[in-house]
Amino acid sequence: MWIKYSTVCHKARWMVFLVLLLHFVVAIGDNLPGPLSASSRWIVDQKGNRVKLACINWAAHMEALIPEGLHSQPLPKIISIISSSGFNCVRLTWAVWMFTDPTLGSQTVSQSLTSLGLDGALQGVMSNNPNLAQLTVIQAFEAVINNLASQNIMVILDNHLSKPKWCCDLTDGNGFWGDEYFVPGTWINGLSAVAKLSLNHPNVVGMSLRNEPRGFRQNPGDWTKNMKAGAEVVYAENPNLLVLMGGIESTTQLNFISSSPLTFDTQGIRNKLVYEGHWYSWTILTHTAVSYSEWNPNTVCAIDTYRFMRSTGYLITPGQQYTSPLFLSEFGMGLQGDASVADTRYMDCLFATVAQLDLDFSLWALQGSYYLRSGIKNYNESYGLVTPSWDAIQNPDFLKRLQGIMKPLSGQNGNGAATYQNLFHPATGLCVSVSSDSSLVLSECSPSSSKWSYFDDHGVLVPARSSNLVVATSAGSPASLASASSCQGSCDWTLVSDSKLQFSTQVGGQSLCLDGSSGFAITTNPCTCASKLQCEFGSTQQPGGQWFKFITGL
Ligand SMILES: *[C@@H]1O[C@H](CO)[C@@H](O)[C@H](O)[C@H]1NC(C)=O
Repeated sequence: MWIKYSTVCHKARWMVFLVLLLHFVVAIGDNLPGPLSASSRWIVDQKGNRVKLACINWAAHMEALIPEGLHSQPLPKIISIISSSGFNCVRLTWAVWMFTDPTLGSQTVSQSLTSLGLDGALQGVMSNNPNLAQLTVIQAFEAVINNLASQNIMVILDNHLSKPKWCCDLTDGNGFWGDEYFVPGTWINGLSAVAKLSLNHPNVVGMSLRNEPRGFRQNPGDWTKNMKAGAEVVYAENPNLLVLMGGIESTTQLNFISSSPLTFDTQGIRNKLVYEGHWYSWTILTHTAVSYSEWNPNTVCAIDTYRFMRSTGYLITPGQQYTSPLFLSEFGMGLQGDASVADTRYMDCLFATVAQLDLDFSLWALQGSYYLRSGIKNYNESYGLVTPSWDAIQNPDFLKRLQGIMKPLSGQNGNGAATYQNLFHPATGLCVSVSSDSSLVLSECSPSSSKWSYFDDHGVLVPARSSNLVVATSAGSPASLASASSCQGSCDWTLVSDSKLQFSTQVGGQSLCLDGSSGFAITTNPCTCASKLQCEFGSTQQPGGQWFKFITGL
């Protein structure tokens, strides 16, 4: 009996061990949300809860056909940088030919790098990722996806172009269906192959059908016909995937959807549809003749925001036939050292809108360098999150600011009519709160951030459940709270300038604006660039520190 009991006990221990082991295996990646869908303007999981995509682009579409950086750092280390930075997702780019031309797709990593004369990069892969060197380029692509899964990172597979290379010139032959390298049938075959591959990778939650449609062939009719065909193919292979579509004019123009909302032959696709938008500092220049470096930044921000809303932002308007989530799948700026005047103004402006709309997003880009770009070896990416050697964050301040918009900023069911709202500061990614000593400070936006009341671009600024108002005392002094009877007009705030992002009040005949540019305390200072004639040609002044935006809040 005892022996028997002991055997049972022994078996039981083994069972416990096995169960624990299995649990451990299952536990890897078990914080992934499973298949996603579109519900009105939100991306949701199978229970209907919002999943906000906070992604970063990782290039794998270039000549080498290998995700960048594997020569610089071990794969798990690169992915731990992504994860510890707070991103929950990667938009991983790919080129059609890797999946449709067997002579490309069946090469090993080692063969691909050798054939391009990238011996240094191969040495780097052998020392940092020795297990990848003899995999085919497609197997290496899958190994990256698997490693992302092991650290709970979702993946959007983005068809960046057809012929592997740097993207996206207007005349590079990859711009629109029918261009030299952009053969519709080959593209469909590529989508089909990649959708099939995604079946083995539950962390792949979506496919971006084509990056930046553009060039002289572009038109809404052919865009619609081809995107619908692409969506059908992806859905037929893997109906769990989100299907993402970026508009013409390099993923900046979808105004034509408002008059002809997409419909699909296959029911079910509509609930997988997510639109994409791209927004860079120069986007406005390609639509208007306005530039961030030469015009008043408040005026440019107003025009750029209007442009964005008219061309793509409107798609999230609830209750319309076209209503869908919008994924800002590319934006970014130089992150090496001091940002340019234009980049700073643009990013301050973009942050106001992205926070207000609480958009899903993907930063361009992870890579600090490329194996080979435009014929140059070890080309450094000035927009890269990581340094050229992939071992550190290139611009920790920018990452911190970006972290401010990674988590949801508004209630999923918010209808925009909330009385109490958070006051967001685009230049820092923080929210304005009242501290215990009644001063106004910037801190992380959260459900406990102060809620504010303010009406019609003019009036008093009141924190919720307070009988005091925000008041200015003098230039350079902290903004504070005071009772209405004691504030003598300096608590009457108007949203000034074309951007309507600056709160101004009068103190002794001088216009002062709320200012968040001196550390965490909110001060009041003379308004920057508030008048149209200020801050034009050659000006390097930045009003962004004085920009604030109401967001619905949690
Ligand atoms: C990239 O940056 C590294 C480190 O800053 C530098 O040593 C290298 O020369 C740069 N490469 C190119 C091609 O400019």
